[in-house]
Amino acid sequence: MKLLRRTGGRTGASCHHGHAIGLDFGATAVRVAVLSFPRHDGTTSIVADQLGSMPLRPGTVVNGAVADPAALTAALKELWRTQDIDCRHVILGVASPQVQVRELQMPDLDPAQRAKALPFQAREVIALPLDQVVLDFAPLGGPAEDTRLVDGLLVASPREPVMRAVAAVEAAGLKVARVDLASFGLLRAIAHEGTPLEAVIDLGAHLTTVVVHQDGVPRLVRTLARGGEEITRQLAEQLRVEPHEAELIKRRDGVAADSETTATLRDLLAPLLTDIRTSINYFRSSHAGARIERVSLTGGTALLPGLADAVATQVGAPTTVTSPGRLLMPSPTPGRPDTDTDPASASASALSIGLAMGAAA
Ligand SMILES: Nc1ncnc2c1ncn2[C@@H]1O[C@H](COP(=O)(O)OP(=O)(O)OP(=O)(O)O)[C@@H](O)[C@H]1O
Ligand SMILES: [Mg+2]
Repeated sequence: MKLLRRTGGRTGASCHHGHAIGLDFGATAVRVAVLSFPRHDGTTSIVADQLGSMPLRPGTVVNGAVADPAALTAALKELWRTQDIDCRHVILGVASPQVQVRELQMPDLDPAQRAKALPFQAREVIALPLDQVVLDFAPLGGPAEDTRLVDGLLVASPREPVMRAVAAVEAAGLKVARVDLASFGLLRAIAHEGTPLEAVIDLGAHLTTVVVHQDGVPRLVRTLARGGEEITRQLAEQLRVEPHEAELIKRRDGVAADSETTATLRDLLAPLLTDIRTSINYFRSSHAGARIERVSLTGGTALLPGLADAVATQVGAPTTVTSPGRLLMPSPTPGRPDTDTDPASASASALSIGLAMGAAA
């Protein structure tokens, strides 16, 4: 799945030695996953050679958009230097509440013909001026026997933020091989074959992304402009403490305990939970009889004590915090003590891992 493919790289999205790099930037950090795909006896495994991150100053990335390109560029240079990554081709994930994803049937065309046909198809379903969006079509299977139509998802991303992100990344000396929707990366990392109807929810600082899928095939993709930062900010106001102190209190108390702060936090969390429930209910109302069997959570805010139970109550399905299940084994990286490949960071790196996995797709 690609929103934009650049030519010029000899091996497309992967490096000459078969690595693929996924890059996820968020409000608090930019994260990188360097994967390789060794083949043994006809099966391909996915190995995390390097998982790394670099914190971003507040104001660098706001609601998924690059607000301070120079700061992102500087952080990327620092990340490449500290992780000692030698490959420069990256798959970049973009997320925005303005991205529109719609179910669409397309005639069975080759990629070049499809690119030409897309704007005509999109005009009907996308509520944004077409000269301001990047369009893509993600097929969800092969063409139907009788009609030769392909079921898929039409993705329309605002053009300017995508271009600004690509420019900031390339200013760090990197090459954007592909731009992918962050939610598709998330799904690739979390979903695996045989998954029942599941909601995967990434809860960040500014954004919350809800993806409903079955067997890895997305049915609903929605990004909400809500996250953990507003909860910290409001808690700081209510308790009259500094934001960093409110952050510590939030992480310590969460919404599970029975204290006054917990009651406050529960109130502050309510709008986010309501928005999640509304997204899920929208899916249910447009897919009669669909039963969501479980919910998997990723992202920093997923670690809020008691959050998984609160989501379970709202959605009415068992909910767990998850990490990329298909990531088989981090390979040891001798001489690279900074490389971070423990399971906890695999969860924080889910998105970047799933983006890199797209190179093998
Ligand atoms: N242990 C914890 N308990 C509760 N909240 C936490 C915990 N750890 C991190 N957070 C919250 O997670 C948020 C950061 O999550 P994450 O790193 O997924 O966001 P991001 O990817 O940088 O931002 P975004 O995707 O929204 O642009 C912050 O709001 C932080 O307060
Ligand atoms: Mg994020």
